[in-house]
Amino acid sequence: MTPVRTVPTADLDAAERAALRDLLDLAFDGGFADEDWDHALGGLHLTVHEGGRPIAHAAVVQRRLLLDGRTLRCGYVEAVAVHPGHRRRGLGGAVMAAAERVVDRAHHLGALSASDDGLALYRARGWRLWDGPTAVLAPSGVTLTPEDDGSVFTWGLSGGGSGPLVCDWRDGDVW
Ligand SMILES: CC(C)(COP(=O)(O)OP(=O)(O)OC[C@H]1O[C@@H](n2cnc3c(N)ncnc32)[C@H](O)[C@@H]1OP(=O)(O)O)[C@@H](O)C(=O)NCCC(=O)NCCS
Repeated sequence: MTPVRTVPTADLDAAERAALRDLLDLAFDGGFADEDWDHALGGLHLTVHEGGRPIAHAAVVQRRLLLDGRTLRCGYVEAVAVHPGHRRRGLGGAVMAAAERVVDRAHHLGALSASDDGLALYRARGWRLWDGPTAVLAPSGVTLTPEDDGSVFTWGLSGGGSGPLVCDWRDGDVW
């Protein structure tokens, strides 16, 4: 079994933080913004290392989701990435399995927004596409996010719901 480390952001030193950011910049081929990095901080980092460097990463951060009048403590999965030279070896699956364990033990549900690259991984692991509308609790009130419909996945959402599934507000991509 691939050994996966679980480290809170607060326990990463400057060099470890920099190495994770380097991995994410490389894995997303320059498409990983400062706001995306910000979204990955404050919770837990699940990582696989080789040769003293991280080669796979996922973060779980806590967010609030609203659904049909319920407020749900969500383990939101961010910054899932595997070094381009180490893909299709099960490392993405290994960090996701660790993230799912965190969600199962600490949150009402999991959620994430999938990139095109990530879709097959999440589907294969049993994440469920949220097929209702998505929205955000913006400063001006609940606002639909149709551009995110069809890319939000949930994990362990009991009882379903008709939606919209509403996330809390933040800078950058809200989902
Ligand atoms: C998405 C990503 C994390 C997958 O990492 P990985 O280590 O290659 O994934 P795994 O080897 O654990 O794949 C597990 C399973 O997921 C599915 N899968 C993963 N990547 C796939 C792909 N590109 N095409 C088809 N299926 C894929 C397969 O079912 C695979 O099992 P298999 O190899 O036995 O067929 C990696 O491609 C990546 O870092 N992409 C760039 C960053 C990104 O878009 N991250 C997702 C953000 S939401």
